[in-house]
This record gives sequence, C-alpha cells and structure tokens, in this order.
Amino acid sequence: MKEVTKDILIIGSGLAGISAALRIPEKLKVGIIAKAELNEGATLYAQGGIAAVSLPTDSFSSHIKDTMLAGDGLCKKNVVEKVLEDGPNLIQDLIDWGVEFTRFEHDKNMYDLNIEGGHMKRRVFHKDDVTGREIENTLVGNLRLRQNVDIFEHHMAVNLITTDKKCYGAYVLDRKTSQVKTFRAGVVILASGGSGKVYLYTSNPDIASGDGVAMAYRVGATISNMEFMQFHPTCLYHFKAKSFLVSEALRGEGALLKLPDGSRFMYKYHELEELAPRDVVARAIDFEMKSLGLSCVFLDISFKDSYFIKKRFPNIFKKCLKFGIDITKTPIPVVPAAHYTCGGVKTDLYGRTNIRNLFAIGEVACTGLHGANRLASNSLLEAVYFAKATTDYIKKSYQGIENTEIEEWNSDRAVDSHELVMIRHNWEEIRRLMWNYVGIVRSKKRLERAGRRIDILLKEIQEYYWNFTVTAPLLEVRNLANIAHIIIESAKKRKESRGLHFSLDYPNKSLASKDTIVHLK
Ligand code: FAD
Ligand code: SIN
Repeated sequence: MKEVTKDILIIGSGLAGISAALRIPEKLKVGIIAKAELNEGATLYAQGGIAAVSLPTDSFSSHIKDTMLAGDGLCKKNVVEKVLEDGPNLIQDLIDWGVEFTRFEHDKNMYDLNIEGGHMKRRVFHKDDVTGREIENTLVGNLRLRQNVDIFEHHMAVNLITTDKKCYGAYVLDRKTSQVKTFRAGVVILASGGSGKVYLYTSNPDIASGDGVAMAYRVGATISNMEFMQFHPTCLYHFKAKSFLVSEALRGEGALLKLPDGSRFMYKYHELEELAPRDVVARAIDFEMKSLGLSCVFLDISFKDSYFIKKRFPNIFKKCLKFGIDITKTPIPVVPAAHYTCGGVKTDLYGRTNIRNLFAIGEVACTGLHGANRLASNSLLEAVYFAKATTDYIKKSYQGIENTEIEEWNSDRAVDSHELVMIRHNWEEIRRLMWNYVGIVRSKKRLERAGRRIDILLKEIQEYYWNFTVTAPLLEVRNLANIAHIIIESAKKRKESRGLHFSLDYPNKSLASKDTIVHLK
C-alpha cells in the first residue's frame, strides 16, 4: 500500500494538536490525524476555562504560587514560570485566532474572569460554561483554511514506527476502510490527549483511552508520574448522564457541597472549604460517601439568583434540566470521576521525548507543570504553550524526511474477530478493576491484586492483537491494558501520599520525593 509522507505528522486534533498545526510554516507539509471527528476530544468539553494572569490585582508570582501549592512539591519551577508568564500572550494568540471569551455585560472592554479551586485570584478566561467548544471549533475553522495541512479524520494511530530510538512515523488504521496505512514523517508530534477511560467513571470523552502514552511506552519512551490521575470532585450523578462534568466554576461562584440532609462538610477538610485544591475535595467527598454509605453528595447553587445561574451556566443548566434537575431550585447530585492525567510521556521544555523526532504535547505529556496535582484550568494553557514551544523548536531544527526502510504493515496474519464480546468484557474488567483498586484511595494490597489481574488481561489482549484483524475497540483495549499496567507500576513505586496519590500504607509525605519513571522492560 502507498505510504502517506509528511514533514510533520500530528497525532490528535485537540487544542494541542491544532494549535501546533496552525503554527507550522506553510512550506512544511503537515498531516493531522484524529481518531474520531476532527473536533472530538477533551478540549471540546472543557467548561471552566483557561487560566492566565490579566488583572492588576493579580500577579505571576501568585499564579505560580497557586500552581506549585496544588502540585504538592513536584512541579518544576522553571516550567511553571515559563508557561504561566507566557499566559497573557497565549490568550492573545487565541483571541487573534478568533476565540471570543465572555466579557462583562456592563463593560464590554473587561473580561469576566472565573475563579476555581486552588486559585487565589480571578484569572480564568472562559466562554460561558462551554469554553472548550468555543476554542476547539474556532481553531478547527482556522485549520481547514490551511493549504499545507491534510486532515485525516477517523484515522487511528496503531503503533509508532521507530528504529534505534528514532521515530519515522506511525501505522494508522483508517476506520472507514479498515486498512492500516503507513505514515512516514520527518517529525511526529503526539497530541492524543489523556487516559481517563481507564476508569469506570470518568468525565472524559471516549477518545481518551491513553493511546499516545501506550504507543510511546511500547517504543521505549520514558513515562512519568502516571499514578497522579486527577479525579474531578463533581460529575453529575444520574444513570443517563454519561460522564457529564459540573464545572468547578460553580463552586467559584459560591456553590456549596452538601450531604443529603443539607449539612455542609468541606470545613472539616480544608480552610478553603469548597475551593480547596481538587485532590482534597475529591478525597473528602469519597470519604463522606464511603463512611455514610452514600451514592452521591450534592452541589447546591440554587440559593443564587436564577437569572445569574442561567446566564452564567447555560449549558449545565440545560443539561441538568434534561435529566429533571432544575439547578436554580434543587441541589445537583454529584460524584467524583477520573478527569485528568497529570502524568504522561516525559518531555522537556521543547516537547522533546527521549525518542528522537518524537515530541509530545498537551495532556499526553508530562512536562513538570502540574507536579502531583494539576491546578484547575492550567491544562488548556499547557496545551497551547507547548504547541508553541515545540513548533518553535521544530522550525529551527527540522532536517527533513529520511528514506530509511520502513516495514510494511503485516496484515496477512489477521483473521476477522468473532470475539468482539471478549474484547468488551476485557474493556469493562480493566475499568472496573482500576476504579475499585486503583482509585482515589489506594493500598499495597489493592495495587498488588490489580497488578496480577492486569498482567493476565494483558496477555489475553496481546493474543487477540496478534491473531485478529485490528479494529478500534481492540486497539483501545490493548492501550487501556498498557495504561492500567503503567499506572499500577507507578503507584507501587510511590511509597508516600502526595497530591493525587493517597496510600493507606504510606499516609505521609516522603522527604526524598521525586518523579516516578516507568520504562518498558
Ligand atoms: P484532546 O483535546 O483530548 O484531543 C485529543 C486528540 O487526540 C483527539 O483529536 C483524538 O481524536 C486524538 N487521538 C487520540 N488517540 C488517537 C489515536 N490513537 N490516533 C489518532 N488520534 C488520536 N482543562 C482546562 O484547562 N480548563 C477546563 O475548563 C477544563 N475542563 C475540562 C472539562 C472536561 C469535561 C474534561 C474532560 C477536561 C477538561 N479540562 C480542562 C482538561 C482539558 O480539556 C484537556 O486536558 C485538554 O483539552 C487536552 O487537550 P489535548 O489537545 O491534549 O487533547
Ligand atoms: C471545570 O470546569 O471544573 C474543569 C476545569 C479543569 O479541569 O481545569
């Protein structure tokens, strides 16, 4: 089959992938692949917004302090400074691309900024409660005008192509024709998002099956801090509401967490109460739910003016109403759910990985910005920052496409799978196992039990992979099994409780804490 050849192959079309594509000069040919529709991904669903200092009452040092405090001792200060200090320029870039952030009704010259958990100042730019939709769709509009960019929707990267720790491209499944194509490229940028789907309950869209981390791991990339999975405290609890987030911005506007009897509980856990960092709030809810045997807790904003609620949170209002919950009148049933992957493919300040010509940006990467716990609304900023830093680096260093011989994808061995139901069972088993044993609270015993089971599942799934025609569900379950293994291995290595990792066996912080590193053995 004919190869597709590009200077730059970008795997993923969220904020990270698209903003990188928009910054690549016209003289370089770009291929951008997305495993579903072009705009589908976590970016599309972002609600709260994007954090950057803008008010005279705010300062970089305050944003840096909040980020480092949330990161619980593992943020890299030089990275935090670089990213946050570029925040105002990056917001301006988004505005220049056409993104419209919400302004005050009474003063259209002023942006109406959010405040969220862990932030000491209002600094979150947003578009109502659908910030991601505004950003993603605006950038997609720009991308479609670029002459040097070929867009491949419904194309799923299967494996990276590497020799001697150098990347030459990727094998890619065309989901419409079921053919696997070879994409050869001078440079590959992984921008494939997070891994939330490895947990039974998650705010993440279906695409978030950790494909990028799994692919990079399989070719020997260094993976860091994957034990730090962020659980968002407030996802809608309703049997029909698949993974719907109720933004932290509600708590920013005064919403209160309550037990079924209407009493508050956050005062017992943190002086900032409802606006404590996310790890604290999620653990507090988990603790209250477990000790009182509750299926959910409640988030109450109904005491605020109903015009304000509908104007400020139109999407959340409509969505909840669809499920029979009028948030202007009643508290919202909520539970924590897996939300953001703080760890990922380890990169430096230019998005470089330890595999030559392979870069990683956005949620798939572990840059050092978030440390042990991400501060709310810092991830969109990270995605757009590293897209810029990485493409600036590539512009200066690009050396062209190499002619190295690449093996064709071998499809001879494949027979059609009649075992789809087994794949579905494996998929469910992994996600339930991770939720039950590797969730908000962990222990040595739980991790060991989960590890043993994942090892068996990995072997089974590997067999399907070699024997059957590759399909998106099979590839995803293979990636999820890799991710589960990596998270468990990372969690076992961390012999302390810090940020998002809480262990019953090691409840204290270690004095010699460092990043967790996992490699393919
Ligand atoms: P994504 O936007 O997830 O894009 C990933 C892309 O990779 C997609 O195009 C997908 O198709 C593609 N892809 C994946 N695997 C493959 C493969 N194998 N082959 C080909 N393509 C592939 N952060 C904030 O800062 N502020 C917020 O308000 C906020 N709200 C959030 C709300 C929700 C509900 C969620 C889920 C997350 C939120 N986050 C927020 C986090 C933030 O949205 C993400 O971290 C960020 O959008 C990630 O961007 P990305 O470009 O790295 O990945
Ligand atoms: C939210 O709106 O609560 C999500 C913000 C984030 O994940 O940064």
